[in-house]
Amino acid sequence: MKKTPKAMILGTGRATPERVLTNADLEKIVDTTDEWIRERTGIERRFIAADHETNSQFAARAAQRALQSANISAEQIDIIVQGTVTGDVGFPANACYVQELIGATNAAAFDISAACSGFIYGLALADGFIASGKARYVLVIGCELLSRITDWKDRATCVLFGDGAGACVIGPSEGERGLIDTFIKSDGRLTELLCMKGRGTSIPLEVALAERKVFLAMQGREVFKYAVTAMGDASAHILEKNGMTSDDIDLFIPHQANLRIITATAKRLNVSMDKVYVNVQDYGNTSAASIPIAIDEAIEKKRLQSGNRCLMVAFGGGFTWGSALVQL
Ligand code: UT7
Repeated sequence: MKKTPKAMILGTGRATPERVLTNADLEKIVDTTDEWIRERTGIERRFIAADHETNSQFAARAAQRALQSANISAEQIDIIVQGTVTGDVGFPANACYVQELIGATNAAAFDISAACSGFIYGLALADGFIASGKARYVLVIGCELLSRITDWKDRATCVLFGDGAGACVIGPSEGERGLIDTFIKSDGRLTELLCMKGRGTSIPLEVALAERKVFLAMQGREVFKYAVTAMGDASAHILEKNGMTSDDIDLFIPHQANLRIITATAKRLNVSMDKVYVNVQDYGNTSAASIPIAIDEAIEKKRLQSGNRCLMVAFGGGFTWGSALVQL
């Protein structure tokens, strides 16, 4: 019988704009304070792309770094899947622009619209493609330029988000190391709580512009509650399904939206904060990019080393959520 290949992370990379926007800078734009932002979110600064920079440029840069660290050429990539809600254009897929920029001439490229869960959704797909033998190397990218869909007049949202990219090369594992499991879920009854209504086809563009519906809109308090419950449940579910407890995990990487959400989720799971990776203070919420950026940083800082077990969990608009268990 044909042995099912196990997928593993072969290389990681990240890319961010040069420009940093601090909380003090935001105090000059909207009625807010550094103290409020730190206390309510844990965020201190975030990267913001310059006007001439594009999503595909950052995605390609992160992808090239991941390819380099995996020692894989762009031509070897079979699939490029990018989690994003802020692609360069309405269509085609941003992953196609990335394909062109990196020269992955043998790949099929497409995007996933799962908001902040886009990277975990991408990992689940990569796992399936590799396990079924339909692909050998999959490039999973999370990249957002949320600054382009942020309402810079809305203090309740504009202090939260940042721009950035993270990427992982996923390929077959020779041994026991690799992706142990993935879990994805959504609840379409809750689309209204976090969305951008006016850049699709349901509202005429001139109406959307007049009603300022062309920006990300969020009911923060509601999203907060669901995020803690769903991320806690998705983590507990994947651990239990694989006969593990939080004690079996070396590093927990939750989606970096808000330090209070991260600490509440860790508490729910009974995980001490020294096992939790936190970088929301430096990036803000970068949506689909937050987990791959964190993985790349954690490896660089040796918080994640070969053989370590890592639990990742995300939550975002849709609502969508999901978790992934991996042994590096
Ligand atoms: O990526 C996945 C999706 N996103 C998330 O997971 C984010 C989820 N939500 C959150 O992180 C939090 O709900 C927020 C950080 C967005 C807001 O924190 P909160 O503790 O839920 O605050 P709130 O919305 O209940 O607002 C409290 C007060 C309000 O004033 P009043 O009504 O109490 O007088 C707001 O008007 O804080 C006010 N406020 C601000 N004040 C200063 C809201 N934004 C700001 C601000 N600066 N930037």
